[in-house]
Amino acid sequence: MTAFDLGEFYSPTGTQLIETFYSDSYLSIGGRDSTEILATGAAITAATKVLDVGSGLGGPALYLAETIGCRVMGLDIVESNVATANQRAKARGLDDLASFHLGDATAMPFEAGHFDVIIGQDAWCHVPDKNKLIAECARVIAVRGMVTFTDWLQVGEMKGTYRDEVLAAMAASNLGTLESYAALLQKHGFTVLSADDVSAEFIEQYTDIVARLESLESEISETYSPKLYNIIHAMNGTIQRAFADGKLGGGRIIARKGS
Ligand SMILES: C[S@@+](CC[C@H](N)C(=O)[O-])C[C@H]1O[C@@H](n2cnc3c(N)ncnc32)[C@H](O)[C@@H]1O
Repeated sequence: MTAFDLGEFYSPTGTQLIETFYSDSYLSIGGRDSTEILATGAAITAATKVLDVGSGLGGPALYLAETIGCRVMGLDIVESNVATANQRAKARGLDDLASFHLGDATAMPFEAGHFDVIIGQDAWCHVPDKNKLIAECARVIAVRGMVTFTDWLQVGEMKGTYRDEVLAAMAASNLGTLESYAALLQKHGFTVLSADDVSAEFIEQYTDIVARLESLESEISETYSPKLYNIIHAMNGTIQRAFADGKLGGGRIIARKGS
């Protein structure tokens, strides 16, 4: 999946539409509850310098700045998402704490050792080269800094058209597993503190998201088009089928740089 394809998936219209059935400023299913779990896991305080990789419309970063008072930078590859997140930081009076930057997770525009904590919420599935992504996390994080993230995972074998359809429905080029992420983190000098299969949470949260989408059918059909509603509904169906088949799930990982 190239930045261009992602730009289509997360076009201003596509992103606005996703947000209507996700939650305010969030493009990930776990929303604020998930951000809180990540913040607790990484022991984020007002003194922590945080980087959110794949920051979207700014939901997780703005929530951390607002509730904890820490400094947060967001990184996203889609320009309109970065612009919207910065506008929202300003509108919420958080622009002294939160700022959003355009860039690729595999070539981060930040100095070595700059951050205490790196978070990611359901964004890393979009990054084709996960080795480079984790290498960049290892470069920009301080010694004994923490990386904590949730992500969509492959939990059962997927092949051929089935796999292509699932990946296309998520705008992902490949999916990690708990084991593949743990191995990459170790390779780049992290100690994995926990690697949890949270597929049951993902399935529950996603069921709520689909219910919300279905409750908005007429509104979405009128504002956009019935055709677009049907396309999105079918993509959600593909994801739900992969959950039901035990192929797709979710994970939450906490790792520390160093021993
Ligand atoms: C599912 S959204 C999640 C956004 C945010 N974490 C949230 O919880 O709302 C994934 C985000 O990752 C961004 N993204 C995808 N690939 C990226 C990359 N290589 N570098 C930086 N951001 C990327 C997308 O543009 C999108 O905004």
